[in-house]
Amino acid sequence: MRSAARVVATLATAGLLATGVGAISNVTRSGRYLYNADGTRFFIKGIAYQTQGDVSTDPNNPFLEPSTFVDSLADGAGCTRDLPFLQQLGVNAIRAYSVDASLNHDSCMNTFSQAGIYTIIDLSLPVNGSIDRASPAWSTNLLDLYLETINAFSKYDNVLAYNVGNEVVIAANGTAAAAFIKAAARDTKSYLTSIGSSALVGYAAIDADDSWLVPFANYLSCDTTGQNSGATALDLFGLNNYEWCGDAQPSAYADKNGAFAGYNIPAYFSEFGCITSPPRLWTEVATMFASPMTDIWSGGLAFSYFPATSSQGQFGMVTISSDNTTVTTSDDFTRLQAEYGNVTFVNSPSAPGSTTFPSCPTANSTFLASQSLPPTPNDNSCNCLESSLACQFTPTTSNTSAIVGPLLDTACGLLGQVNGNCDAIAADGAAGTYGPVSFCNPSIKLSYVMDQYYEATNRVATSCSFGGNATINSQAPSAASASAAASSCLSNPDATFVPSPPATLSGSSPTGSSSGSGSSGNKDNGASTLSNKEAMMGMVLATVFSVAGGLFALA
Ligand SMILES: *[C@@H]1O[C@H](CO)[C@@H](O)[C@H](O)[C@H]1NC(C)=O
Ligand SMILES: *[C@@H]1O[C@H](CO)[C@@H](O)[C@H](O)[C@H]1NC(C)=O
Ligand SMILES: *[C@@H]1O[C@H](CO)[C@@H](O)[C@H](O)[C@H]1NC(C)=O
Ligand SMILES: *[C@@H]1O[C@H](CO)[C@@H](O)[C@H](O)[C@H]1NC(C)=O
Ligand SMILES: *[C@@H]1O[C@H](CO)[C@@H](O)[C@H](O)[C@H]1NC(C)=O
Ligand SMILES: *[C@@H]1O[C@H](CO)[C@@H](O)[C@H](O)[C@H]1NC(C)=O
Ligand SMILES: *[C@@H]1O[C@H](CO)[C@@H](O)[C@H](O)[C@H]1NC(C)=O
Ligand SMILES: *[C@@H]1O[C@H](CO)[C@@H](O)[C@H](O)[C@H]1NC(C)=O
Repeated sequence: MRSAARVVATLATAGLLATGVGAISNVTRSGRYLYNADGTRFFIKGIAYQTQGDVSTDPNNPFLEPSTFVDSLADGAGCTRDLPFLQQLGVNAIRAYSVDASLNHDSCMNTFSQAGIYTIIDLSLPVNGSIDRASPAWSTNLLDLYLETINAFSKYDNVLAYNVGNEVVIAANGTAAAAFIKAAARDTKSYLTSIGSSALVGYAAIDADDSWLVPFANYLSCDTTGQNSGATALDLFGLNNYEWCGDAQPSAYADKNGAFAGYNIPAYFSEFGCITSPPRLWTEVATMFASPMTDIWSGGLAFSYFPATSSQGQFGMVTISSDNTTVTTSDDFTRLQAEYGNVTFVNSPSAPGSTTFPSCPTANSTFLASQSLPPTPNDNSCNCLESSLACQFTPTTSNTSAIVGPLLDTACGLLGQVNGNCDAIAADGAAGTYGPVSFCNPSIKLSYVMDQYYEATNRVATSCSFGGNATINSQAPSAASASAAASSCLSNPDATFVPSPPATLSGSSPTGSSSGSGSSGNKDNGASTLSNKEAMMGMVLATVFSVAGGLFALA
């Protein structure tokens, strides 16, 4: 660590650099590269920027995935404090893993914009705000969360990209979830287009075995229609890559260079900076920003500015004083600064190459996702359905994350006993089959199943209790017309359309707390992500329950 005196001197020097800069230019994608407004290539030379939330020490959470988050982009004083250090590093982009749409981000976003720093914003949140890798769905609650976050950030000119997920898939057996990620990209992309935003749509992948990572990457950038359409393709593929450890050689990247040599959209390292052979030298930077890697990749984001604990050890390049006013940099910071300071952006190749969207990889035993994607989640359908149900989930707590899973287990089990099933709420990304209620939020799915049981038992009052969690809806249609009413709400369950945020999203938001808490179902990572193969062996904290031959896990 540097002495405090040194830090003060550094701050003063850096402050001189913070001179006025013109409006930050739009970065666009053409083919597999990113371009500045003047037509030169754009490279991400960035750093992860997110104070780490609470890290559960649960033995079932070997990734040490955070269960809460701190929205660093809502901390204006913190961003002002950190700007000189980000400028010393010479970064042009930061990545924020979790943001709270109900908070004000003006100060941070404007501070960074004026300094020419772009932001990459992850739309997902810890625990129940991301696609559940153990039981994936693309549902109204996630879509609404994503749109709400986009609405909070669309007024800023320095959002480079929105990520629709981070490390959702961590092993070949979970690749069916790619269908839901691709649907999330499709709907996010069409929404951005509808509001006139030129921000890109990205995803950050765990590094992994090429036998599934390569088809996975190709699938997220492919066209399902055979008409060279990018409608379901990402704009930007991130790889969380920690292959270069210590003072490695360029051959460390030979395999991934080969795997992405012919890729059709921009790819970059959404995280890099291996800590297993300390000290970190950051000598990979010179390799990443030179040929041949610049033909294949568009830069990367060092992990991480703030301290971040992981199962591999401690990341982070600065420490913040307990009163949040002072930054102390480490030697790690100084070395990255030297390496980043040496980077000259190349401007070749001058043409983007192919701008086509290839056909999608065929599913096989190591890549499971169907090219039949889930539909656009439809709030109106789900709300209509819920109001038509004669038995409804009426929790006595607003924190439903912990009880929905066990209650679905119970309700689907009971339904099975009366020859019913939970197929309507199930989504299967491998088969490409999506039940008509599968895009509804977990609470409405539960209401639907409770109601199915209530109807199957001829509306006997005791069938609509579930330990005090369900209530009979006296406004519902009669039993004779119940089925028709539900069907009319779900008249076009396979539809794809440009989504719009529900009217209720303004004011008190479903994510209005700065902590994305809850305990069941830990999905993709928050601030600390890992790519080592040991971590990939880990289990996911999810409420998994089996019903009549199917496996369901909802949070
Ligand atoms: C960037 O693109 C947006 C949306 O297309 C546009 O409104 C804005 O003026 C552009 N910014 C610059 C600096 O050209
Ligand atoms: C994948 O396999 C691991 C064990 O290797 C298991 O724990 C996990 O639940 C499986 N995931 C899925 C989505 O089947
Ligand atoms: C599945 O297909 C991918 C290419 O899409 C390939 O890399 C992988 O080896 C294939 N797996 C098997 C088991 O054939
Ligand atoms: C410092 O900032 C963190 C969030 O980054 C916050 O949780 C904490 O309360 C702050 N401490 C003080 C003394 O302001
Ligand atoms: C920066 O580049 C110069 C000239 O190529 C080289 O001599 C120096 O070692 C480099 N420094 C770092 C930290 O890579
Ligand atoms: C996550 O759970 C909390 C607590 O139940 C809820 O308020 C919030 O809406 C949920 N978020 C999503 C995206 O489902
Ligand atoms: C609701 O369901 C949960 C989970 O099964 C259970 O713990 C609780 O006792 C039930 N009743 C009420 C009133 O919350
Ligand atoms: C929701 O309930 C879970 C499990 O009881 C708990 O861990 C979590 O802190 C709760 N979240 C909120 C916002 O109260």
